[in-house]
Amino acid sequence: MLDKPARVMIDAPALDGGMKKPNLLTVEQAKDMSVADMTTLFKDHLNPGQLHFMKLLGFNKIKIETAEGMYYVDQNGRKILDLFGGFGSLALGHNHQRLIAARKQFQDENRHEIGIAFMSQYAAALAKNLAEIAPGDLDMVFLGSSGSEAMEAAIKLAERVAGPKRPGVVYAENSFHGKTRGVLSITDGPLYRGEFKLLENNVKVPFGDIDAIRRAFETDPTIGVLVLETIQGGGGINIAPPEFWQEVRTLCNKHGVIWVADEVQCGVGRSGRFFAFEYANVVPDITAVAKSLGGGKTAMAAMIARRDIYMKAYGTPKTAMIHAHATFGGIGEACITAIETLNVLYDEDLIENAAVQGDYLLERLNALKAKYPKIIKDVRGQGLMVGLEFQDFSQTLPLVLRPVVALLDDKLKGSLSGFIGALLLRDYDTLVAFTEYNRNVIRLLPPLICERQHVDQLCDALDDLLGRGIVRIVKDFVGSQLS
Ligand SMILES: Cc1ncc(COP(=O)(O)O)c(C=O)c1O
Repeated sequence: MLDKPARVMIDAPALDGGMKKPNLLTVEQAKDMSVADMTTLFKDHLNPGQLHFMKLLGFNKIKIETAEGMYYVDQNGRKILDLFGGFGSLALGHNHQRLIAARKQFQDENRHEIGIAFMSQYAAALAKNLAEIAPGDLDMVFLGSSGSEAMEAAIKLAERVAGPKRPGVVYAENSFHGKTRGVLSITDGPLYRGEFKLLENNVKVPFGDIDAIRRAFETDPTIGVLVLETIQGGGGINIAPPEFWQEVRTLCNKHGVIWVADEVQCGVGRSGRFFAFEYANVVPDITAVAKSLGGGKTAMAAMIARRDIYMKAYGTPKTAMIHAHATFGGIGEACITAIETLNVLYDEDLIENAAVQGDYLLERLNALKAKYPKIIKDVRGQGLMVGLEFQDFSQTLPLVLRPVVALLDDKLKGSLSGFIGALLLRDYDTLVAFTEYNRNVIRLLPPLICERQHVDQLCDALDDLLGRGIVRIVKDFVGSQLS
């Protein structure tokens, strides 16, 4: 018989009549909350500083009640066309009926969620589907719940395979790979990097510059890993030609460097291929997808690696648990949502649609660029990942308006994208996204269910708005801040 353990006495007050329930809001109260109450709670408990930007863009006046397909519906029944697309996480649009049905059935059947003790048939099926879609021998899958988590898994795997003598990582200017500590070290934003202590041995090169990568590989034998977004999103939609990626593959083979392709934003069909690197007919060693993998209904992310690489790092019972999935990696309902998302993507030909509507969007935006050359500087993109870059007007704005603009936040100074975005929302019920590093770029990441009529709605609105001219656009924006 085991000795009874000594009782640990905790000096806590007695509970007369049970634990008192704190003053908790209910689900119904959350749904019914007014804009004023939301603002107060956002300020008190979430992110008071962020409200400043919400006010500039007019987001602070809106409470979204429902969302379906390409549209949000606000508290006044106003339908807002969504070309922001949750920064690329809404490939299937809002609340796709097949996802809702699959999730509801899963719940009604009392299926299990946590796949830690027993094997999960849902995680296994999702991993099989991803391996089926991924080219080459990208066969081994790690499931997580955010892009950062998938990218952390990717750089840890790459580091283990490269070995302790080759800890150097090459990454690109204007890259965004997430905000957790590891990937923050290869995310090129001074704002995000702040004063944090980051991983060392990283070498930054201009995006798309093959000579810079070659030089880095040739001069520094400690480099073992190359990490690049295939299409840079946060950097303002930057694309490199197929020859660049082919040369990346050749150089990595030659120098034994592990190539990690971050497809968190451009993957899952957005570019018009499931993975954007497929345009170059090459296969990286490791890739990561997230955002749209959850179909806009759940948080789901995956790292997918070549089998030989994965096995080298984690292939034995001794190494298997070094980076096995976290508590919520491969949770049941998230997995079946991702499985259904992948099926819908192909059943509804959404990847082809991304390519077709993307071409049409570029065509219409280029026509606007030709019409407004003093306002639009560049239009670029692939599939439904498109950037619209405005001219910097800080020096061309009439002198009288410059002090007014100078009073505005630094993020908007000299940048038309904030003004255009705010007015598109206010006057045309159209939501677009902004860009971390290039404040002159509007990012368009619409759901892949986007149709010609939605492209037309955006481009007609832009045409009308740009027709007002810069001075009136700025005046109208300032007016929107006063009302
Ligand atoms: C290319 C890329 N990688 C990684 C991430 C990080 O993903 P998450 O925000 O889900 O952590 C993002 C997020 O925007 C991204 O765009």
